[in-house]
Amino acid sequence: MQDQRTLTRLPRLALIPLLLATAMSHAATDPLAPTAHWSAYTAGRASTPPMGWSSWNAFGTNIDEAKILGSAQRLVDSGLAAKGYRYVNIDDGWAQRRVIPDGRLEVRTDQFPSAAKGGFRPLTDKLHAMGLKAGIYSDLGRNTCSQAYGGDDPNLPKGSVLEREVGLYGHIDQDIKLFFSDWNFDFIKVDGCGVRAYGADSPKVRSGQFRALTPVLDLESVTRSNIPAVQAEFDQINAALKRNKPDGDFLLSLCVWGSGDVRAWGKNFGNLSRTSDDIRPYWTRLLSNYDSVARRELYGHPGSWNDPDMLFIGAGEFDANHLVEARSHFALWAILNAPLMTGADLTKTPQALIDIFGNADIIAVNQDPAGNQAVLAYDADDLQILVKQLASGDKAIAVFNRGFGPIDADLTAEQLKFRKDAPVTLTDLWSKEQSTFTNETKVRVAPRETKIFRVHGTRALAQGVYLSEQPGSVNPAVDGVTTPQADPTVFRSSNGWTGSKGPGERPMYAGWGGARADSTPFNQVLQIGGKQFTTGIGILANSRLEVRNHGYGRLSTQVGVDDSAHDRTHAVTFMVYGDGKLLAKSKALRWGQAAQALTADVTGVKVVELVARSTGGDNGMLPVTWGEAALLGTGKSD
Ligand code: GLA
Repeated sequence: MQDQRTLTRLPRLALIPLLLATAMSHAATDPLAPTAHWSAYTAGRASTPPMGWSSWNAFGTNIDEAKILGSAQRLVDSGLAAKGYRYVNIDDGWAQRRVIPDGRLEVRTDQFPSAAKGGFRPLTDKLHAMGLKAGIYSDLGRNTCSQAYGGDDPNLPKGSVLEREVGLYGHIDQDIKLFFSDWNFDFIKVDGCGVRAYGADSPKVRSGQFRALTPVLDLESVTRSNIPAVQAEFDQINAALKRNKPDGDFLLSLCVWGSGDVRAWGKNFGNLSRTSDDIRPYWTRLLSNYDSVARRELYGHPGSWNDPDMLFIGAGEFDANHLVEARSHFALWAILNAPLMTGADLTKTPQALIDIFGNADIIAVNQDPAGNQAVLAYDADDLQILVKQLASGDKAIAVFNRGFGPIDADLTAEQLKFRKDAPVTLTDLWSKEQSTFTNETKVRVAPRETKIFRVHGTRALAQGVYLSEQPGSVNPAVDGVTTPQADPTVFRSSNGWTGSKGPGERPMYAGWGGARADSTPFNQVLQIGGKQFTTGIGILANSRLEVRNHGYGRLSTQVGVDDSAHDRTHAVTFMVYGDGKLLAKSKALRWGQAAQALTADVTGVKVVELVARSTGGDNGMLPVTWGEAALLGTGKSD
C-alpha cells in the first residue's frame, strides 16, 4: 500500500469503547461463563496454513492472464505444487467496473481475454485443471487499496463513480455469489482500505472521484477504529460464504493490517488475519512483520492463523544475492505457522530460491498437523530462540540472529522442555547435518541468519503436555484486555514508501497485555509468590481460555496472581471447567500469596476451560499465571 501516511487524519469517530460493545453483546450473558466449545474460527479449509502464490508483491496491479498462468505453471513444473503450494491468488487490479444498474462486476478483459465470456470462470477452470486452487481479492468498502493509494495507476477500474465501486460494501451477497458460485474461486482476501481511506475530507473524495464512506479503521490508533462495525461486516461476509459455498471449500483472509485490535479478534472471523502493515523487501520491514506475530502464539490455531503477510523472497534484500536473508524469511514464516504465499514472478525465479520454497523439511514444520505456532524460549533484541512442538513429540526450533553481529548462541535442553540428562539430536533443516548434545550446546548464527532444526529428545514431562507447548490447542476466548494498547515489542521499521518526514513510526498494533505462553502478558517471566515458572500461561484476570483436550486424563497447574501485578489488593479465583462443568476452584488469591495447586479429572472431556475471575481493580489489567499448566495421562489425537 503506498502513501499511507499521507492520508489526511481521519475524523474522530464516535468512540465505541470495547467494554461497552462487549457489555452490550453479552447483555444477558457472562463472558467468563463456560461454553463447552472451541470458539475460534474453524469454517473453511485451513487446518494447516495455506500455501501458494499471490500476484501482489511481484506485479502490483499490473497483472494479466499470462502472468498469473505463468507463475501457476512454474508452481506445477518446479514441483512446488506437489509440495503443497496450491493457491494461486489474484490480488488487487483485476476489476474493470461494476455494471450499473445490475451491480455485476466485470473483469479487465484487456488483461484477461478469457474473461470476455463467463468472467473468471474459464481461468479458475484452467487453474483447477492444473490441480491448483484459485483466489480473488476484494475490499470491505466500496473501493480498494490501489484506488486509495495508487495515484494515476492506469490499471484501476474505469467509468463513473458508481461503476468504479468494485468493493464489497452494499454488494456482499451478490459479489460472494459471483466469486464462489459463478466463478468458482476457493479463496478470498478482504482488504480494508475502503473503510479507512475515504473519509468526507480525504483528497480523493473531495476531488469528486469517489463517494465518501465514514472510516471505521485507523491503522495508527485503535481508539479511532469502530471495531464492532468492522466485525459486523465480516459476519455478513461469513454468512454469504455459508450461503454461496455450502460445501465449505473456501478460505477467508482478513486484511486489516493489525489495525482495530484485530490481532486479538481476527481468529474468530476468518482463516487468516493480517497482523501488520504490508511487508516490503527490506530486512527491517521483515522484523516489523515478524514481531507482529512472534508473541501472538496463542492467537493462531488450525483454522485461524496469524498472517504476517506474503513472502517477499525474490526481491530486494531477499533476492538470490541475499540467500541468508531469504532463508531466514522462509524459516521464520514456516515456524510461526504463517501462510507460505510466494510473492515472486515465478517465471523468472532462480532455482536457488525455488529450492528455498521447496525445502520439504521446513514445509513439514509449517504444515505440522498439531498447528502449534512456535513459542519464544529465549527473547532478546538481537537473538531469539523459537520452539515449536510438533505432532510427533519432536520439536522444531529456530535460532534467529536479528542482525547486529555474529552470535554463539547457547541452546539448552531446558529451553526445549527436554531432559538434560538424555541425548538431544538436532537435524539442521538446511544442511541436513545431524549432531547430538546433552544438557546444552552452542549454535553459531551469522547476522540475519536463522538456523532451523528438527529436534528429538526425551520430554521433561514424560506423560503429558504443557499447555504452553501446544498453543494451537489453547484459545484465549476472553483475554481480559479491556483497554487495547499498542504493543511496544513490535519493531518500528521505517516503512519504505513515505520517507522519514513527519513524526516517525510509533507503536501502533494493539495487543499489549494479550495472553502468552511461558510469559506474562507484559513480557515478564512468570512468577507467583516469589516462585518462578519456566512454563505456564500468562493472562490477565477476567479471562477464559478454551483448551482442546486430546484424550488426556488430568489437568494440573499452580495458580496465582503474578508477582508483576501492580494491583496488590484484589483477589482472583481460578476455575477449571470440563465441557462446561466446574471441576476445580481455587481460593481467592491475592498478590504475594503462594501459588495454589489445582488438579482436575478431565477424562473424556473435549474442551477444558480455564477461568480467572477477579473482584476488580487496576482497570482489569491484573496479570495472573497458570503455572506449569499441563494435561497429563495418555494423550491421543482426536
Ligand atoms: C493492501 C494489502 C496488500 C495488497 C494491496 C492491494 O495494501 O495490504 O497486501 O492486497 O492492498 O492494493
